[in-house]
Amino acid sequence: MLSSFQQKYDGFGTKIPPEKQKSVHLPGPDTVRQIIFPAVQKGYICKMKTVLITGGNRGIGLELCRQFYEKKCTVIMGARNIEAGKAAALKIHPSVTVVHLDVTLPGTLIHSFKIIKEKFGRVDILVNNAGIGEQVAEIRPSLLRNARRLVEQRIPVAKKKNIKLISVLRNHGMIDSDKNASKTDIERAVSIMNTNCFGAWRVIQQFLPLIEKSPSGRIINVSSGMGKLDQLSGYLPGYSISKAALNALTIMFANELKSRNIAVNAVCPGWVKTDMGGLNAPETPQEGADTIVWLALSEHINSGRFYKDRQEIDW
Ligand SMILES: NC(=O)c1ccc[n+]([C@@H]2O[C@H](COP(=O)([O-])OP(=O)(O)OC[C@H]3O[C@@H](n4cnc5c(N)ncnc54)[C@H](OP(=O)(O)O)[C@@H]3O)[C@@H](O)[C@H]2O)c1
Repeated sequence: MLSSFQQKYDGFGTKIPPEKQKSVHLPGPDTVRQIIFPAVQKGYICKMKTVLITGGNRGIGLELCRQFYEKKCTVIMGARNIEAGKAAALKIHPSVTVVHLDVTLPGTLIHSFKIIKEKFGRVDILVNNAGIGEQVAEIRPSLLRNARRLVEQRIPVAKKKNIKLISVLRNHGMIDSDKNASKTDIERAVSIMNTNCFGAWRVIQQFLPLIEKSPSGRIINVSSGMGKLDQLSGYLPGYSISKAALNALTIMFANELKSRNIAVNAVCPGWVKTDMGGLNAPETPQEGADTIVWLALSEHINSGRFYKDRQEIDW
C-alpha cells in the first residue's frame, strides 16, 4: 500500500484533492527481498541514493539533477521559485521531486524537510549548489528592461535567440562590478555571504538528521577557485570571501561529522557557461557537474578536501 503521505501528495509535494487520492499496491518486503535486492546486488538496479540539490532549477544545479537522475538516483530538486522548479524538473523526468527551498528563508527549509522526511526518510547526498554572483543585483531591473528593448529593436535576432543580456553586457565590460575590496558595497557582500555561505550552513543544519539516516552520507559544497586563499586578488571580493568562508565551513563540518560517517567536501566546477558564468566561460554545465557527481557517487572518498576536475586541489 502507499504510505499516507504518498496517497495525499504528488511528486512535487503538492496536496492531491481527496477525491483523487487512491490506494495502490506497492511491492511488499518479500518482493523486495526476492526480486529487488538480488537485482541490486547484481548491479541491475542502482542503490537508489537519494540526492537533494539546492538551486536545481537552472545552470549547474539543473545539470546535476539530470546527471544524478541518469545515474538512477532519486532526485530532489530544491528551487526557490517552485514553478520554475517544476518546469525544469519536467525537462528531466516527472519522477524528479521539487521542493520549495530558498536557502535564505528558514521557513522554506523546515517545510521541505517535512516533505522529504515523510516521503523519503533520508538524504544520502546533499549538494549545496545554490549561489549568487557579484554583479547581477547591481543592475536596476528598469535599466535592464530598457537595454533589452534597445538591443531587440536594433538586433531582432536577439529576441528570437533569447540572448541573456546580462551575460552580453558583462562580457563586453559594460556592467560595473565592484572590482576590489576597498570600493565594494558591504551590504551586497553581506547578501552574497547570506546565500553562498550561511545558506549552505542553514541547509546542512536543517537536513543533518536526514543525512545521518544514510549509511554513508555525503555533503558537497559547490565552491569556487575564487575562494582559494592563494588566489584572493581582491577581484569580486564579496563573492570570493563567500566561497573562502564556504571552504572553511566545509572543513569545520568535515571534522565534526567524520565520526558519524558523513563525508563533507568542496568542489570547484570550473568556469562554466551559465547565467552566472557568462557566455565566454569555456566549460559546459555537463563538464561543471562532472566532478560533483563523480565525488558524490564514488565508493570510498576522503572528507574535508577541495576538488576540481576529479583532482584534489589546495584551499
Ligand atoms: N558558473 C560558474 O562559472 C561557476 C564557477 C564556480 C562556482 N560556481 C558555483 O556553482 C553554483 C551554481 O552556479 P551556476 O553557474 O549554475 O549559477 P546560476 O546559473 O546563476 O544558478 C544559480 C542557482 O542558484 C539558485 N539560487 C540563488 N539564490 C538562491 C537562494 N537564496 N535559495 C535557493 N536557490 C538560490 C538560483 O535560483 P533562481 O533561478 O531562483 O535564481 C539558480 O537555480 C554556485 O554556487 C556558483 O557560485 C559557478
